[in-house]
Amino acid sequence: MNIWDETESLVVENSIGNQLGEMQKAVQPTISLTQRFKPKSSGQYETVGEVDFLRRIDRECLSWGDTVHYQENPIIVNSCQGGIVSDVDGRTYVDTGMWHSSCNFGYRNPAIESEVSQQLLKLPQANGDFLHREKLLVAKMVVDAIYERTGVKGRVSFNVGGSLVVEDALKIVRKNTGKNRVAVMMGGYHGRSLGTLALSSSHRYRQFYNEFPERAVMFPFANCAQCFYEKERETCELYCAQTIRKSFSNEFYGLASKTSTELGALVIEPCQGRGYTIPPQDFYRSFIPDLQERGILILDDEIQVGMYRTGKLFAFEHYGFVPDIMTLSKSFTNGLNPVSLVWARADLVRTENFTPGHAHSNFANHPLGTAAALATWRYMLAQDYETSVPAKGTYFLGKLQQLQARYPFVYAVDGLGLLLNLVFADAHGTPYEGSAKLAAAIAQDNDFLWAGESWRMILQTGGYNLNVLKFAPHLDISYEEIDRMIGILDQVLQKLGVEVSK
Ligand SMILES: Cc1ncc(COP(=O)(O)O)c(C=O)c1O
Repeated sequence: MNIWDETESLVVENSIGNQLGEMQKAVQPTISLTQRFKPKSSGQYETVGEVDFLRRIDRECLSWGDTVHYQENPIIVNSCQGGIVSDVDGRTYVDTGMWHSSCNFGYRNPAIESEVSQQLLKLPQANGDFLHREKLLVAKMVVDAIYERTGVKGRVSFNVGGSLVVEDALKIVRKNTGKNRVAVMMGGYHGRSLGTLALSSSHRYRQFYNEFPERAVMFPFANCAQCFYEKERETCELYCAQTIRKSFSNEFYGLASKTSTELGALVIEPCQGRGYTIPPQDFYRSFIPDLQERGILILDDEIQVGMYRTGKLFAFEHYGFVPDIMTLSKSFTNGLNPVSLVWARADLVRTENFTPGHAHSNFANHPLGTAAALATWRYMLAQDYETSVPAKGTYFLGKLQQLQARYPFVYAVDGLGLLLNLVFADAHGTPYEGSAKLAAAIAQDNDFLWAGESWRMILQTGGYNLNVLKFAPHLDISYEEIDRMIGILDQVLQKLGVEVSK
């Protein structure tokens, strides 16, 4: 029996229902859905077996090609506030990842949300062929913020979501260098559109979609907990960075001659979203100047690690280089709207070079998005995240180190600001395959007591072997909230220990 058969047998109990009953014959699916609602005596409507019904819709009506069904038992979210999410069953979850860093400034941040509500009443729609105030003001804030930090003048444009704005950035590379090929770092993630898949180091995302003739050249990243070259950080002398530099030193290495290269850009995430992997301080400094001297543009994808996540507005600020192009999305609007942004050095997008029509998407400058972005930037710059985020990050990392000392299957922990990771592996560094996924399921499907209240927990997973937990709490998190997060995590690890020892 499918869901439509079952709902057909429900009795229609009121006049609206009777009308719907008639209409049902013509438009069965919509009306059958409506029949799941029975009238209360108050005249309001309540749902009948709603959660089961919603789960059945998921099973029968949704394509499962998105990332939801990486989990066996996905949450049906009902509400959110600060760093807490509730589901339709009334359970409460501590969120350690904030939608993959899309809501750095907390769910339903009142200062940001109220500006968007105002915009809804004032200018909810605006043809993208015109200008509007919020678009212009947020553009100035971004351009000024980058200029203050780098001394480089730039210009920005907007798009929808991360992948499309990375594609816009690639257009800027192609237009300026005349080259289609770029290099990326292994483990990097830049989206799942057909264009950005050419940059993905995850073969599994590409494998069903035939050839990608312009697939990027890939260099091993400084993922020191799982070094590609199987070296130790203490003695490696940044072998990975040296290898990248060396790859351009001889024409027989396939990338460059003395005077030329086929590569238009190197695309990086300064710290990688894959496992919240934090490279050593001098990693980028060891090869980026060489590449920039050769005219290879540095495209810095800050979509996940920008917006003070690491304790600086942009993660590149930790690493002593200045990008030529940069992308922002996710927390750019604090997750309230998919408007995203690409910044480029002014000479790369000068008006006579990047003429009208080079970039466009109907919703690229959506006024609810630009209002959200402007409110987010105003809120963000009024805080002192450069002080508070590193302090809270150090506290959080200290707590993770204490857990590491107690649980032998925790091989490494690391953090930069409030971007932190915990790696599951044995004493030799051999990863426990899938262990993070198991931990996340334990956290999400069990109740844990903390300070007399019942909690569940949302954990983000990653790493080359799904053996890394990635922490990105909201940046206004209190020390008490960190203690709660760690207290629940401790209980999750106890349960995980039992599973791992099996
Ligand atoms: C660094 C980075 N770039 C690009 C993207 C793609 O963004 P979207 O999923 O909005 O297309 C993501 C998404 O997670 C990301 O983390």
